[in-house]
Amino acid sequence: MNHVIGIHDLGPSGVRQVLDQAADWKAQSPGEHLKGAVLGMVFFNPSLRTRTSFELAMLRGGGHAIVLEVGAGTWKLESREGVIMDGDKTEHLKEAIPVLCRYVDLLAVRSFSDGTDEDLDHTEPVLEAIRRYATVPVISMEGAREHPCQGLADLLTMRENFGDLKGLPVTLTWAPHIKPLPKAVPNSFLLSAITAGCQVRLAHPPGFELHESVLAQAAALAAETGATLKTTQDQAAALAGSAVIYPKAWGPTVAGAELSQASWCPTIAHLNGMRADAILMHCLPVRRDLEVSSELLDSPHSRVVDEAENRFHVQRVLLDRAYHKKENSL
Ligand code: CP
Repeated sequence: MNHVIGIHDLGPSGVRQVLDQAADWKAQSPGEHLKGAVLGMVFFNPSLRTRTSFELAMLRGGGHAIVLEVGAGTWKLESREGVIMDGDKTEHLKEAIPVLCRYVDLLAVRSFSDGTDEDLDHTEPVLEAIRRYATVPVISMEGAREHPCQGLADLLTMRENFGDLKGLPVTLTWAPHIKPLPKAVPNSFLLSAITAGCQVRLAHPPGFELHESVLAQAAALAAETGATLKTTQDQAAALAGSAVIYPKAWGPTVAGAELSQASWCPTIAHLNGMRADAILMHCLPVRRDLEVSSELLDSPHSRVVDEAENRFHVQRVLLDRAYHKKENSL
């Protein structure tokens, strides 16, 4: 079935196909390609872009989306196997998901990490449980480990600015925040850029390493696509000659690591040494003058709104492939 839980569900050729079709459909809308389709959207966490762009994709395609906010108008849902349900969770995914699959043609699910167990996060526990119980295609709207729709929108945005992505130097840099945020977005940017064959530089302070399972996946993918990955604690070195600065806050690997390192907040000055045509990317939401300076966000280098628009364009392709049962990994 055409589930998309992580970028590996598409593979390099599937990613290329999604980007090609998204670019074509951005230039010329496909019309009612989802006529009659019903999407169930299950949110364990809040959203602005994801919810709106998925609903819009169904609406523009002639289908319909039903939005469920878990615990706010629906029962709280248990995902763990073998637990006695004597807490605040009223219903198990084992019943809830097969029931929803009798009603809808497609499911989309958002379930972030709760930050308590990074090793567990890397099994993508809720999304993978839903994949097991589902009888219709499931698309991740951000899980504990990956945010594949964001990664695809990021690639489309880079392709629009630079054309062929093979060998493109791009920098993913840690940025400060008041909270230890999940790593799904940086993981997905890294895995997507490696899938596309980019020259990826990953910069973060000590104690903010990405999980070894993601780095191992990136290394295996790089061998297939010709991408490279260089990790450094020197942000300026990572940015030198780069075409993209992708700042993102994420939590430390060790509790108590310093979170507020203001010098890591990208400003206009961080563009010095980058390519003249360098662009700023960010998945949004962004905390101004904490994660990224206002001056940089408001500069002509910023592509953050284009990136958000591109969520719609890549998602309508994923919905189409899932509804019309087109193979993902080819
Ligand atoms: N980038 C993104 O997923 O935005 P939302 O959290 O607003 O959906």
